[in-house]
Amino acid sequence: MIGATNKKPSQFADDLLVYFVRQPEKKRPPVCSDALVQERINQAFEAGDCLGKKEECLLIYPQRVFEGIRAKRLLIVGLGKDELTRELFRRAGGVVAQKAVTLKAEKLLLVVPAELPFAVEEMAECFSEGLILGSYQFKKYKKEDEEEKSSEIKKVGLYVDSASLGAVRKAIRQGTVAGLAGSATRDMANEPGNVWTPQAFADYGRQIAEEHGLVCTVMEKEEMKTLKMGGILGVNQGSDQPPKLVMLEYRTGRKVPTLLLVGKGLTFDSGGISLKPGEGMQDMKYDMCGGAAVMAAMRAIGEEKPGRLDVVALVPATENLPSSKALKPGDIISQYGGKTVEVVNTDAEGRLILADALAYGKEKFKPDAIIDLATLTGAVIIGLGHHRTGLLSNDDDLSARVIDAGERAGEPLWRLPLGDEYKEQLKSKVADIKNIGGRPGGTITAAVFLQQFVASTPWVHLDIAGTAWDYTEKPYVPKGPSGIGARTLIELVRNWR
Ligand code: BES
Ligand code: MN
Ligand code: ZN
Repeated sequence: MIGATNKKPSQFADDLLVYFVRQPEKKRPPVCSDALVQERINQAFEAGDCLGKKEECLLIYPQRVFEGIRAKRLLIVGLGKDELTRELFRRAGGVVAQKAVTLKAEKLLLVVPAELPFAVEEMAECFSEGLILGSYQFKKYKKEDEEEKSSEIKKVGLYVDSASLGAVRKAIRQGTVAGLAGSATRDMANEPGNVWTPQAFADYGRQIAEEHGLVCTVMEKEEMKTLKMGGILGVNQGSDQPPKLVMLEYRTGRKVPTLLLVGKGLTFDSGGISLKPGEGMQDMKYDMCGGAAVMAAMRAIGEEKPGRLDVVALVPATENLPSSKALKPGDIISQYGGKTVEVVNTDAEGRLILADALAYGKEKFKPDAIIDLATLTGAVIIGLGHHRTGLLSNDDDLSARVIDAGERAGEPLWRLPLGDEYKEQLKSKVADIKNIGGRPGGTITAAVFLQQFVASTPWVHLDIAGTAWDYTEKPYVPKGPSGIGARTLIELVRNWR
């Protein structure tokens, strides 16, 4: 869909020709490389309409009879005057995508000012991500309203000089893979709970394994019983949908470190017997966003085939529903490996299914590092709001690398502490540990619970409950699920050392 070209913008005769402009330091019209477009900019500037401010848009319908501009529409997008960053270009890509979608423009050409103080490849990578994520729509179940059916962006050209064509094309491919991973995560999340079931996770795992040469194994309920995975089995008790543990393996075939990814795949969280209030409960179909991000990242990894590490992904998937068979407050279960847990609140179910996956994954795949992603606690929303994912870790180095990857991906993280004081809150009178630690530090006690199952393996836990949906408004992030996590993982794997 996105490509690089060195054909002259003046020859572009399709839907939307986009010029990006910087905001000059002094109050002057923004500078553009095309003399005819510059005239239009000057004219708009005099009217006070085009200053080049960040994300400012000016739409012009050129008189196409004039020589020079043959495009149907001309869009001037401001880049502001601040420092240029990856996020700024991603957002600019999102701005263009949104405009193109409302205008139903299908063929676009993008022109950036010459010699910006920013690497053209990196800019192309971020534009591509922004364009893909910004044009995301989920209209699958809108059958009646034809008006709602919008067009899709079919072709985007990025105008660059011929010397940079090769490098820019590679960067566009990278941005596209990451952007599509974000979109795939959103697609899974947008599917309703009656469609995106544990079985759907299994089917998707098998599909991407086939497409990208990964190994997919789906553990069924019977084997979970044999292996005594009391966490996922316990949470699943109230559901008619059988649980699945979806495993995907990317292998280099070389002697390299193994990274284990684990994603919470709770396809609907009613709270179980500790039932959630009705208002807003529909959002709990998103309780599988960690699992979705991990699956989408594996697809991207399968596509890019990095050479420096093996990656294994586990997604424990089940619903959490009340029934006469469901887990009850006070019940005691035994996690994989034998640790017993007093289930004080059946709504703290994510940690129970993750604990089995972490303990099993650690034992079976002997990873050098573990990262888990989960919509785990409402408390992280109280602490960090909807703008940062909570990160908790037993390893400073791994945590710094994940924070850096998140920063580059435009998915900011914030580290919270762990500590034995918090473990005290999980003491049970009747079992090894209980599954809730009270309201104080709820995100931390949840992580400390998980920590019991990774022991000393370097591990990072990402609590995405605040960012997986209702995330910071951005031009490339629509309302609904944000697709967070997948791009951070891809960025981390790309820069693995
Ligand atoms: N899936 C929820 C966490 C959640 C809450 C995500 C709100 C997004 C928005 C999780 O399973 C849960 O219910 N956690 C409880 C834990 C509590 C009972 C200790 C919570 O956060 O209220
Ligand atoms: Mn819950
Ligand atoms: Zn949950």
